[in-house]
Amino acid sequence: MTIETTTSSVHDTRALGRALAGVLVPGTVLVLSGGLGAGKTALTQGVAAGLGVEDRVTSPTFTMVATHDTDGQRGITQLLHADLYRVGSGTEADDLAIAEMVEDAAVALVEWGDMAPGVLGPTQVTCTISLGDAEDDRHLTFDLATSSIDEEAARAALASWMAS
Ligand SMILES: Nc1ncnc2c1ncn2[C@@H]1O[C@H](COP(=O)(O)OP(=O)(O)OP(=O)(O)O)[C@@H](O)[C@H]1O
Ligand SMILES: [Mg+2]
Repeated sequence: MTIETTTSSVHDTRALGRALAGVLVPGTVLVLSGGLGAGKTALTQGVAAGLGVEDRVTSPTFTMVATHDTDGQRGITQLLHADLYRVGSGTEADDLAIAEMVEDAAVALVEWGDMAPGVLGPTQVTCTISLGDAEDDRHLTFDLATSSIDEEAARAALASWMAS
């Protein structure tokens, strides 16, 4: 089952991310796909804000996995933010051990995660971002199939960003 929405600005995408943060559960790996400049980092910045992360969140292209402390609510104490663009799909991606790091108390958002789905563990949500007709339109499709997130709650949260 997928949930689709469209945003019309980077502000909207961040607001959507904040709403999404409210339904994430510990151990979730969110696989972000979409081309350069699609808005993967923008969505992550919104999720980070929703989780109470105070660090500045940028694309972790060179660090590969950035770890941010959250405010600790709902059992999520850390946000892991990875970017596999330069890592690719081989052993190097496996070495990042994202699936192991996320267990228990973290959530992970993995840009270009579709390049290495096999190393990210079973509890995945995918979000695919594509460009829309207008310059700032982005279509986002969420697939919760292999996650333990409640679908109705996710649907409500992803609809609620518009009111924020
Ligand atoms: N609706 C929108 N949602 C998100 N970003 C948007 C939107 N409209 C325009 N933008 C712009 O698109 C760019 C998105 O950049 P962002 O770094 O989030 O992309 P990315 O998917 O992480 O790219 P990369 O693969 O290079 O890491 C920003 O410059 C942002 O201002
Ligand atoms: Mg990015």
